[in-house]
Amino acid sequence: MTAASQSPSVRRLTLQILRCDPQQPEAAARLQPFQLDEAPGMTLYLALNEIRDTQDPSLQFDFVCRAGICGSCGMMINGRPGLACRTLTANLPSLITLAPLPGFELIGDLSVNTGKWMRGMSERLESWIHSSEEVDPCRLETPMEPELAEQIYELERCIECGCCIAGCGTAQMRSDFAGAVGLNQIARFRLDPRDERSDDELYRLVGDDDGVFGCMTLLGCQDLCPKSLPLQTQIAYLRRKMAALGIT
Ligand code: SF4
Ligand code: F3S
Ligand code: FES
Repeated sequence: MTAASQSPSVRRLTLQILRCDPQQPEAAARLQPFQLDEAPGMTLYLALNEIRDTQDPSLQFDFVCRAGICGSCGMMINGRPGLACRTLTANLPSLITLAPLPGFELIGDLSVNTGKWMRGMSERLESWIHSSEEVDPCRLETPMEPELAEQIYELERCIECGCCIAGCGTAQMRSDFAGAVGLNQIARFRLDPRDERSDDELYRLVGDDDGVFGCMTLLGCQDLCPKSLPLQTQIAYLRRKMAALGIT
């Protein structure tokens, strides 16, 4: 639809997108405006796809599931971390500024390498079940109490989108800070009866300034988590348990 023929009720959106290519350090980062007509139910994912399809095929951004499940579409949306596939343009002003999530390696434009960050954090925190039992694929696992399985599931809903890292002042200052996403993992493994690590062993993994003691209770993580994980409750719990164990 041309600007002249468009219905007056259709909003004209301007997406200002931070363009940056780390492969070309001589080319300065710049905000590039793109205009398009808003469609009913349009998400930022749809808007970015339309721009890439019709205006600039070189625009870089990440999507897989389009349903808030894979965590790959995190970006700064008018200065706030969020998932592009779950953000309706109708809930935003007509001028929308998009930038990559800070704190992660930039791949280009809105695309960042959250996977590399998450892998490094998981390796530091040994985020896997430590068990001396041989895994026998033919044997059924011992059933868990449903309430406990529910509690673990609640913390496993993390999609590793990186919004809590992009919105955390400590994570932006300390590259090895585990962040709410890492502290949430420790809380998750503490609950799991299959993990043979003691509380003391688990808590010591985050018993320093790159862990619980680096958290300044800024609360951005809890406010920004698109899965509404109870991050503050988990961090407060870890603090109390560590104090009880004398890990300070
Ligand atoms: Fe994303 Fe929430 Fe997981 Fe952080 S804790 S990575 S904000 S889902
Ligand atoms: Fe960061 Fe959340 Fe703590 S925003 S400082 S991890 S409360
Ligand atoms: Fe998967 Fe947005 S595309 S969370």
